[in-house]
Amino acid sequence: MSHRLNLLAPEVRANPYPYYAELRRSAPVCQVDPGGIWAVSRYDDVALVLKNAELFSAKGGRIALLPPWLDRNPMVDSILLMDPPEHTKARAIVSRAFSTRVIPRIEPLLRAAGRGFVERLTPGCELDFCAELAVPIPATAIADLLGLDPALRAHFKRWTAAFVAIAAATPEMREGIRTTIVELEQYLREVIAARRAAPRDDLVSELLAARIDGVALTEPEIVSFLFLLLAAGFETTTHLLNAAMKIFTDHPEVYARVRADPALVPAFIEEVLRFEPSAHIAIRHVKADVEIRGVKLPAGTLVAALISSANRDEQVFPDPDRFDLDRERQVGLSFGYGAHFCLGAALARAEAKIGIEVLTSLPGRFEWAGRAPEWNISLTLRGLKECWVRYVL
Ligand code: HEM
Repeated sequence: MSHRLNLLAPEVRANPYPYYAELRRSAPVCQVDPGGIWAVSRYDDVALVLKNAELFSAKGGRIALLPPWLDRNPMVDSILLMDPPEHTKARAIVSRAFSTRVIPRIEPLLRAAGRGFVERLTPGCELDFCAELAVPIPATAIADLLGLDPALRAHFKRWTAAFVAIAAATPEMREGIRTTIVELEQYLREVIAARRAAPRDDLVSELLAARIDGVALTEPEIVSFLFLLLAAGFETTTHLLNAAMKIFTDHPEVYARVRADPALVPAFIEEVLRFEPSAHIAIRHVKADVEIRGVKLPAGTLVAALISSANRDEQVFPDPDRFDLDRERQVGLSFGYGAHFCLGAALARAEAKIGIEVLTSLPGRFEWAGRAPEWNISLTLRGLKECWVRYVL
């Protein structure tokens, strides 16, 4: 590649995969824009960076979450940006509160959201699948998980879209992001105060009751974790559902197979995760001088681990640009690797399963409604902003 790749350039956002293939081939460790950050693109190198928390610090994520124009973002104090041993302790306590028993409780609510979507469908109608189902499913899950007022679900998209845009925000977007953070923090503090006064069977009450070596979590610690859940658990799943719909409309033969055989739903979800990972890039910084493939990276260097490139690495996934339901190995790095492996992976898969089952159990099917896909602006997440489709019988 003769010039430096800009990860945020519109043509790269629209289809990064040919650019990543070129990086894997000719410059697997190289500088890219914005900001001359170093990118690693081969599967083994991405896995190494994510796995080796001694050498690659998660605090590198500050660059994406707390740029100089932003004075405050509670998410930078969350487990996502902690290194061991601090991370190990804090993750143990939040994961206890975030146990798998949340899934059976949430499933009936998600199925109800699915039924509401089906009831609104009429033959020939055009709809934005993103607004109609890809947002409501994770919004329902997170609202229930956090015990938030369902009436506030409409705000979720705005709140979380603000976080994920931080690293790529234009000057005009900055004031809106600052205001959103203040608004959300204030709201979450009110929820915490309410649960302190009257505990319920929900995550916030469990976090308040939790103890590490006999010590309770502080209010800022709880706020930062709730910020993380909203940002990490919502937009990512919306993007996954939108990506699934786009694959159905781009590949009618895949859609037909999954409709004919519901047992293929889990394999379909795994292949969507590999093919279009919504957590596109993870950021780390180098703690001590290191060399990858002969390239010296001094301490302090920022590294972008290109998860989405790793998932298309031909050394690991033969014919990687083909969406293949029958792939022998499907699991890529979509939920991360090592210490920070996604805490919500089981929940995300459960949400996706319910969403996909809605799409495959209908008498009709969906077609792309002809509007050009538009991708979000974010350094770390990638997904469609809207997903216009037509329902045909
Ligand atoms: C398709 C959906 C999802 C994808 C692709 C995804 C992906 C990821 C990835 C790649 C990481 C690691 C980031 C890194 O190493 O820097 C991560 C971490 C995390 N995810 Fe997810 N995630 C999804 C859904 C969820 C959901 C539904 C929740 C919870 C409601 C969640 C909660 C978290 C948390 C708390 C972490 C931080 C774990 C830690 O730092 O120890 N995620 N996720």
